Amino acid sequence: MAFDHRKYQPFTPVQRPQRRWPEQVIRTAPHWCAVDLRDGNQALVKPMTVAQKMRLFDLLVKVGFKEIEVGFPAASQPDFDFVRALIEQDRIPADVTIQVLTQARDELIARSFESLKGARRAVMHLYNSTSRTQREKVFRMDVAGIRDIAVRGAECVARHAAQQPDTQWVFQYSPESFTGTELDVAVDVVNAVVNVWQPAKGQPVIINLPATVEVSTPNVFADMVEHMNDHIIQREHLQISVHTHNDRGCAVAAAELAVMAGADRVEGTLMGNGERTGNMDLVTMAMNLYSQGVDPKVDFSGMREIIETVEAVTEISTHPRHPYAGELVFTAFSGSHQDAIRKCLVLQQPDEKWDVAYLPIDPRDLGRRYEEVVRINSQSGKGGVLHVLERDYGITLPRWLQIEFSRVVQRQAEEQAGEIDGAAIHALFEQHYLASPKGWELQGYDVHREGDVVRASVRIGTSAVAESLEGEGKGVVDALVAALMARTGRRITVESFDEMALSEGTQASAMACVRVLIDDEPASAAALADDTTSATLQAVLSAVGHRQGSAEVRASA
Ligand code: KIV
Ligand code: ZN
Repeated sequence: MAFDHRKYQPFTPVQRPQRRWPEQVIRTAPHWCAVDLRDGNQALVKPMTVAQKMRLFDLLVKVGFKEIEVGFPAASQPDFDFVRALIEQDRIPADVTIQVLTQARDELIARSFESLKGARRAVMHLYNSTSRTQREKVFRMDVAGIRDIAVRGAECVARHAAQQPDTQWVFQYSPESFTGTELDVAVDVVNAVVNVWQPAKGQPVIINLPATVEVSTPNVFADMVEHMNDHIIQREHLQISVHTHNDRGCAVAAAELAVMAGADRVEGTLMGNGERTGNMDLVTMAMNLYSQGVDPKVDFSGMREIIETVEAVTEISTHPRHPYAGELVFTAFSGSHQDAIRKCLVLQQPDEKWDVAYLPIDPRDLGRRYEEVVRINSQSGKGGVLHVLERDYGITLPRWLQIEFSRVVQRQAEEQAGEIDGAAIHALFEQHYLASPKGWELQGYDVHREGDVVRASVRIGTSAVAESLEGEGKGVVDALVAALMARTGRRITVESFDEMALSEGTQASAMACVRVLIDDEPASAAALADDTTSATLQAVLSAVGHRQGSAEVRASA
């Protein structure tokens, strides 16, 4: 059997009945570190050029990241050149700290320090692998050997830093493959490094716990982070950071639970670009905080520019359903969703807390427009169609016409098996309701009321060839219907009739909508005009004309 789950083993849950993190609520943003230019870049088919890195660095600064891992200079010449360019061209703002990654080998550490000559402040990020698999199969070493690599690396970092005293150094250590490392081993190795660096004596230290590979549900990662939080020595003098990858699709959740478990800092990338399934997505985690009323301390209001830049430098397109950033994430096609959104948006007041069904945040906060929220396909009901007509054309339909017209739109959407935009919806409305049949155009009218009786004289046809219809009734509609019954010899009854003033900014000032039965056959029409009587008369004429056809009028004219 090729697809055999017995090949795999489950992760070991952490026995931690005293866990505290489930009760925690995140009320402040963690310190962010953007690792797009290092981890993200390492995962690209075509790594970024120095110019592309510079473009992305500038964007990260603009968004508000204060710590940016800019490369792996000992492993890559372009990374080395980029770090030099940042320093020599004075591109690093005073409140931004750059970070570089190095393996725990003397010559690589030396080269990493060389890349940072002249930096005002920098994080030297040292790592080595600690997991059981890596110890046994890759390095063929016991725990003492792995600890020794970390300790010698930490000592080497401290020596080099002392030789470059003009830079303010922050030391960072990652037990790489932490999620595959037994917790007692992770505590042992990390504490050995902390012991070398001595944060309690004033040396800033970050301990970064990576889910190099995400192997468990996020609660297990949170348990691991909380355990480390409780067992790392000199804890109050250092920062705990997490760096989660997304192998199981939970990198953001794991980072969030890790912050609840005591992490102070989170590493990630924009849109989650990174090795395999990617790194923790900074956009999603920061926007999750924002949607809870927590200041994320980064600004994603220019989301379009962010997407454009990330796509250009990574050559990876953004999924249309990507949280907060995708093209479709604020769009509703389903009728009931559209209806709810439309009603909530009407009620939402500028000074009130955001409370709109189906929209966890206001799309405008990310530079999106409400126009994108309601889009029409065959799944959309009358709510969406109504919303688009109202929004784009200032036209509000009576309920009976909403139902009728949405069927027209749905038929069309089914036929073309796709989306229908606002212009196409308006064109359908024009074609099915507003267009007056040839020969049935209102040319003029005289309406007189005498007591309870309205007498109407209505001229229809073309300006060259017009015909007069005379009738009387209780109102304008009755009078015209009487004239039309006499004219056509058919029984005409009005089933529904609505007239309304249109909002400012629309071409006409009034609209009338009518549904008539002509010898029991229904016909509907709508008309726009500068006054309600003209709109009313034209709507009735068009409805009757739609059934009668134009030939008869031309023949009799
Ligand atoms: O995923 C990882 O473990 C890393 C480390 C180097 C921090 O990128
Ligand atoms: Zn990583």
